[in-house]
Parts: sequence; structure tokens; C-alpha cells
Amino acid sequence: MKLDSVIPWGRTRDEYRRMFNLTESDEQKRILGVGDGPASFNAEMQQLGHSVVSIDPIYRFSAGEIATRIEQTYDTVISQLKANAEHYNWTDFRDADEVGIQRMEAMRQFLADYESGKQNGRYQTESLPETSFSDQSFDLALCSHLLFLYSAHLSEDFHLQAVRELLRLAAEVRIFPVIDLTNQPSAFVDTVLAECRQNGHQAELIKVAYHFQKNGDQMLCIRR
Ligand SMILES: C[S@@+](CC[C@H](N)C(=O)[O-])C[C@H]1O[C@@H](n2cnc3c(N)ncnc32)[C@H](O)[C@@H]1O
Repeated sequence: MKLDSVIPWGRTRDEYRRMFNLTESDEQKRILGVGDGPASFNAEMQQLGHSVVSIDPIYRFSAGEIATRIEQTYDTVISQLKANAEHYNWTDFRDADEVGIQRMEAMRQFLADYESGKQNGRYQTESLPETSFSDQSFDLALCSHLLFLYSAHLSEDFHLQAVRELLRLAAEVRIFPVIDLTNQPSAFVDTVLAECRQNGHQAELIKVAYHFQKNGDQMLCIRR
């Protein structure tokens, strides 16, 4: 992965709680954050004494390198958000600038926590669809804005392999959203649901409280 092909953009713990219907009891679990990038979820959970390991290929880069890339891409991301404003619900955020302010605060918290978290093994350079963790190292795997969203870039086979890997790592897997970048249901959801059920897992689509991208208010929840 080259850093100049990455657009770092990170959400907060409050957003993770709403995207994944996280309860206090969920937050006590051993959580794997998949493709967490520069989200502040891990940093905020650490401050509250919870256990999160985040994985992402961008963790091969230093805090300074990621910070520079955030600065280089920020204006473009905000302009795109403004140009595509009709694709979003503006109930939780007033406008694109408010999204930008909150995301920058999340990324600032991530950057402040990143180097020490990396030393403690909370941020690990790993990539789907194959990781180096042992079977069932976690209770709950959370994957925000990666699988299904990038259905135009990641194949159906990639999705199936990735979900099999996440179920190898954790007893429960939650993926949000289940739409793609055009706000349409990902073509791969039904295949993933069918394979999970065929393998004896409990898999269902669940409505959640978070609804920023239009049509994007469902997560896929799979239990082994
Ligand atoms: C749109 S960002 C979402 C960041 C964070 N989850 C959030 O919701 O704020 C997608 C993230 O997935 C990471 N990513 C890309 N390919 C990946 C892979 N194969 N395995 C794990 N993470 C990956 C990217 O580096 C990026 O940080």
C-alpha cells in the first residue's frame, strides 16, 4: 500500500456505538476493529479501560506520515462531501464543515494515541482477507466503512474470504454499512448471508441508529 493512494478519514466512538448498536456489555468484550484507519474508537475505548485491537494496512506508516496525508487530502474530501450533499442525511451533522471538524478531532485523538498504542499492540499492520491472529482471539469484530462499501473495488470472493477470516478470529462479526458507494445495497450481501447460514452461523441484517449516508442504516451481524 502506498500512502498517496490513501484518503485517511476516521470516525468517533460515539459513531461506532451507533453504527454497531454497541451496548455497555459489548464494550467489555475483546474487540477487533477491522480497517479502523485514523478513527478515534480505539483511543477513546483505551481511555475508558476497554480492550480494542485495531488492524489496518496504513499502520505501517508513522503518525507524522499519516498526519501529513490527512492535511493533503482534507480539502478534497470536504469539497466532495459538499458536491454530493444530497446523498447524505443532515440530521446529526449541520453541514460538511461540521463533519470535517468532528472528523479532524477524531483523527487528532487517534494521532495522539497512535505511537504508544502501536507499541502496546493496539494498532497492528494487518490486512483482510488473511491475518496472523490465532483462532477466536476476539469476542467481537467490528468492520466500519470497508466491506460492502467498497464493493466496486473488492471482489465477491474477497468479501467471502474476509468474512470467513473474521469468523475465525471472533465469535461475532458486525459490518456497517451494507450499501456501496452509490448508496445501493451491496451485490455481495446476499451471498455472504447465504454462505454464513449454510455454515450454521446466525446471520441477520439489523437496523441501527446511525444514518448519515442515505439508505445506510443497517449492519450485518453474524454469530458463530
Ligand atoms: C473508509 S476508511 C474507514 C475507517 C474507519 N473504520 C472509520 O469508519 O472511521 C477504510 C479503512 O480500511 C482500510 N483498509 C483498506 N484495505 C484494507 C484491508 N484489506 N484490510 C483491512 N483494512 C483495510 C483503509 O486503510 C482505511 O483506513
